[in-house]
Parts: sequence; structure tokens; C-alpha cells
Amino acid sequence: MTPDTIRVRTSEEIDRVNPEIHGHFAEHLGRCVYGGLWVGEDDPLPTTDGIREDTVERLSDLGVHQLRWPGGCFADAYHWRDGVGPREERPTRPNDFWAQGREEAFVESNAFGTEEFVRLCELVDAEPFLAANVGSGDPQEAKEWVEYCNREDDTALARERAENGSPDPHDVTYWGVGNENWGCGGQFDPETYANEFRRFAHYMRLRGAEETIACGHVDEDWNRRFLAQLTEPDLLDHLSIHRYFGRWDGDCGSATEFDDEQYYLLFAESLKVGRQVDSAAAAIDTYASTDDVGIAVDEWGAWHPEATSENGLEQENSVRDAVAAAGVLDDFNHRADLVSMANLAQTVNVLQCVVQTDEEAAWPTPTYRVLDLYSPHVGATAVRTSVETEEVETDLWEVPLVSASATDGDEGTYVTLSNRSLDEERTVRVAVRDDIGGASGEVLFADHDPSDYSTRGNAAEFEAADLDVTTEDGDLVVDLPPNSVAGLSVESA
Ligand code: AHR
Repeated sequence: MTPDTIRVRTSEEIDRVNPEIHGHFAEHLGRCVYGGLWVGEDDPLPTTDGIREDTVERLSDLGVHQLRWPGGCFADAYHWRDGVGPREERPTRPNDFWAQGREEAFVESNAFGTEEFVRLCELVDAEPFLAANVGSGDPQEAKEWVEYCNREDDTALARERAENGSPDPHDVTYWGVGNENWGCGGQFDPETYANEFRRFAHYMRLRGAEETIACGHVDEDWNRRFLAQLTEPDLLDHLSIHRYFGRWDGDCGSATEFDDEQYYLLFAESLKVGRQVDSAAAAIDTYASTDDVGIAVDEWGAWHPEATSENGLEQENSVRDAVAAAGVLDDFNHRADLVSMANLAQTVNVLQCVVQTDEEAAWPTPTYRVLDLYSPHVGATAVRTSVETEEVETDLWEVPLVSASATDGDEGTYVTLSNRSLDEERTVRVAVRDDIGGASGEVLFADHDPSDYSTRGNAAEFEAADLDVTTEDGDLVVDLPPNSVAGLSVESA
């Protein structure tokens, strides 16, 4: 077999990989917030102010560069005032979207509100990203939330925040203006949402919302109609798109059971993300400029048929999902000039989470390992990288068997590559630069099947192992096991 070839063009810079691209999303849904992150101060588990220490430790080790909250669909039914002040006085409310047919999940206690969320962000060192309620709220409520969080001077809401334990402003930079407002967030058409966005963003800016995120769509026409109607692109910093793969598209099987065709189709579906970023960028460049407006992929990941509203969107997290995530992160690196932020859905226990918990323990998923392996890209400069490899036919389009991306940083060049082949090892040549001083590699999932998933008992088995890197005529050569992901650190001479 001819080796696959990856060419890294270090002289062709794309842009810095914004740390915010390695962001996460936590919604009041199932066991993400309640149980996964928050158990309350009276829980027997070790907590910091009611927040699980084991989950925090995992997330801090990984690096959560920004965290989006409180939804999702929940955001457009949420009233922030319900979640501040003495906890025992906070109202209980129905969770309109994620009732899950279970009485205890139906009632939102509001125990976890703005102060608790900001505390969580401090503990894991994440920038908070708040999604304001457009669907059932109004601009007054949204601007008051900004004032509550960000005002330094002596206003009534800044005083209220101080009384709630936070004399210093929370300095929230990122403000979502609604969520999926074409659907669960109010069923708006793009023109009506543009008028609402303009009104909300105008008032939120006045109270200190530095960067706003508008709801966009994977449908380019929706984005074009929204942008054409907006007329005030200065109010907009990021346009969001959401991309889930698995349940919503062709038949990709389930999280852990799939045949060969279904196996590859998930990769094909995951590759839509890059194309949808390009289409959103084309719309932005017609009405504004992608130099000023970034694309926030603020929900993405695998969503399998077994993750339903009834079970709190829980599914196993397999090696296949993790390898698909690696390809999406490569696509974000290739588009570092377009993608300003991204949020894998959802942080703990829900969908393609990075941490799972039971009553007593928190452990990393295979996807956690991929994000960890990709962390040297954070803040480095993405450089043009091409891949010559074989492709597999699917019902959607062809899937390249090898995916790769590269960045240049203080430590040299970092290359990530994955082998999507179900059953074949692939030899990959990596042409990086003429002046290689040294190279080392790590590989994930070398001894795993694509349907393997982590549990409390086996999570350590998914840790990265050393990968042999040899040199041939100035190129690096590695053997990538089937369905594996690798990272190569390359120093200059
Ligand atoms: O992440 C689950 C849901 O998926 C979110 O609430 C919504 O925004 C999306 O449709």
C-alpha cells in the first residue's frame, strides 16, 4: 500500500487557533448541571461551594476555555432572576424543554444560577458565555442581566450582585442573543429574529455586553435573510451554527452498534461541519466581513438515537465518536480564520460529553482524550496542511481515511492525524520542514475497537500511549492503528 502523505506548509499561516474553539456547553438538561456539575453544599461528595470537585478536577486538567450556559433550548425559557439571591427563596419552575417524563427532572430548582455558574467558571478557569432569553424574554431582562454581571459602578443591580457575594463584576464577555431562535427559541423567521437581535443587542451593548453571538443556521439562506435584514452588522461579533451528527441524518447506527456502512457514514456526516462553516462565511462576507464577524459553532458533536429527552440525552461515548471529533477539530484548525469559538455538547453526562459521572466518581470519555491530545494547538497558529489518502464511498460523499491538521507554536510544529479506517493500519508520511530537530508522538485507541467506550472501571485504558516516529528522507513516518488518533510534536533543528 502506498503510504498516505501529509504535507505541512509552515510558511502558509491561516490564523491563530482561538482558545475559545476548545469550549464546552452546559445546559439544564438531564444530569449535566444537576448531578454532573452541581450537587449542592450538603452532598456527601467533596464539593467547592456545592460544585463537584471530581468533575472540576477533570475539566481543569483538560482546559475549558469558555463555557456556554444555561442552554440550549432551556435558555429561551430561562429568567435569570429566578437563579439569584438566597437559594432557599428561589422559585421552582417547570423545565419547559427537558421534562424527560420524570417528576424530579421536571422541576427546575434554580439552585444553580448565575453566581454558581460564574463560580464554576472560576474553578475550571473558563470564560463564561451566557445565552440570554429572546424567545420568552425581553431586552429589558437581558440588559439587566448584563448590568448585574458586569457593572462596576454603584448601580442597583451591581449592589444586588455584591449582596449575593460578588462585589467585583463577573466581566462576562460573551453574550448569546437567544438560541436556535428558528426553532425552540421562539420559532422566528430570519427577518423577525434580525429585528429582535438588533433590539436586544443594542440594549445589551449599552450595559456592557462586549461580544454578541447571534443565532444562525446551517441553512445558508436563513443566514443570508437574517444578515440582509440586520442592517447593523456592528452589533454582531459571532454568528452561531449548530451541528449534531448521528441521529438527525442518515442511518449511522447507534453509539456502540453499527455495521461498516453506518460506521463510515458518521464520519461523512461529521464532515458537514466544515462545509457549513464555509457556507455561513460566504453569507457573512456578502453583508459584512468575516474579519469582523466570526463563526461560533456553539453546539456540536455526535447525537445517537439512544439519547432521547426521556433519558436526559445520555448515550455511551465511543471511540468512533472520539475519532470523528478529531476530524472536526482538524476542520476547525483549517478554518482558524473563520471559526471564532466552538462548544462541544455537552460537558458532563449529556450527548458527546467529556466527563461522565455516577453517584461517587467522575471519569473522562474517549472524546476527552482527543481534546487533551489536541490541546497543544490552542493559541498556536494554524498552517496549511494537505492530506493525500484513500477515500471510502458513503451514501453522502467520500470520506478520506486520514485526517490531519497542524499548528506552529513556541514549542515547534504540532501535527494531529487520525486513521478512520475500520480495520486497516495506515502508514503515514508527514512532510513538515527541512530543519527537523526532533520528533515524538502519542497515539490514542491503538488497542480499542471503534465501539469501545469508557466506564468508571476502564477509563484509564484510553490514555495516550507513545507512538514510534521514524525519519525517512527528511519526512516523519508513523504507523497509525485503525480508528486511532495521534499527535506529533516536531522541533526545529
Ligand atoms: O444540546 C441539546 C439541544 O440541542 C439544545 O438544547 C438545543 O440548542 C439543540 O437543539
